[in-house]
Amino acid sequence: MVINSEPAAVLAQMIAERAPGDLNAVHFTTGGSTAVDTALRTAMFMNKRLGRPDKKIIIAREKGYHGSTFLAATVTGKERFETQFEKVDDLVRFLPDVNPYHRPNGMSMDAWCDASDADLENLIAQVGADRIAAFIAEPILCSGGVIVPPPGYHKRTRYICRTHDILYISDEVVTGFGRLGHWFASEAVYDIVPDMITCAKGLTSGYLALGACIISDAVMARIADAKGDDVFYNGYTYSGHPVACAAAIKNKFDIVGDVRGEGLSGCIECRPELTKET
Ligand SMILES: Cc1ncc(COP(=O)(O)O)c(C=O)c1O
Repeated sequence: MVINSEPAAVLAQMIAERAPGDLNAVHFTTGGSTAVDTALRTAMFMNKRLGRPDKKIIIAREKGYHGSTFLAATVTGKERFETQFEKVDDLVRFLPDVNPYHRPNGMSMDAWCDASDADLENLIAQVGADRIAAFIAEPILCSGGVIVPPPGYHKRTRYICRTHDILYISDEVVTGFGRLGHWFASEAVYDIVPDMITCAKGLTSGYLALGACIISDAVMARIADAKGDDVFYNGYTYSGHPVACAAAIKNKFDIVGDVRGEGLSGCIECRPELTKET
């Protein structure tokens, strides 16, 4: 991981302070797709280092969108049957649609959550946990149609992944930096601490191109402690560009006192003198 300028170092520190749990290692990229690539490559790299090169399959979801680079597009479930683009099909398995609106008539939300969780358990049993590196999921499948999974779904899938030593990647390219009223949605809204978070868009509010893959200390330690001295060559010429990082730093206001709302009504109350933890 190369932090190549002062703005990048300052921003990395700011992100680590705002990210949940032990997610403290910030790997800058140039946008969302490259952040997703970085997360997936990190998961595969970790397993190679740990001497389990076959543990490399990624579980993704129908309707999920993760980007347009080759790897990010491979794990994208949106319109994957219609596309003429080549993908690495061996590398990915898809879970069915989690949209509660599409559940069978008469099925309760709890039963739909159970069924969606069972889909993950069954897929893991079928493929074998020893072949699965990571599960990638957006907290809300935004570009797939703003699909909000059933309550409790994220906690349960997070638990299932941990049980099977499958890394959980939360793709917060859309939800990160305030879209759901918090810096990150994973913990603040859905009560989970993932192994990695990918983010972009809101990081600079779109003023300049910047993304990041935030990696947990636990994952970093497993990479560092493992045997093998191969270097993690993953970076882009403009990764963590100082101007983009400076824009991101300027873009982080501390004057938001409260964020609240219901349905389509929302309010951000900016009261610097009253700013407090809520
Ligand atoms: C959830 C999610 N992940 C990744 C991406 C890809 O980001 P980018 O377009 O910056 O490469 C997007 C883009 O919309 C996205 O919505």
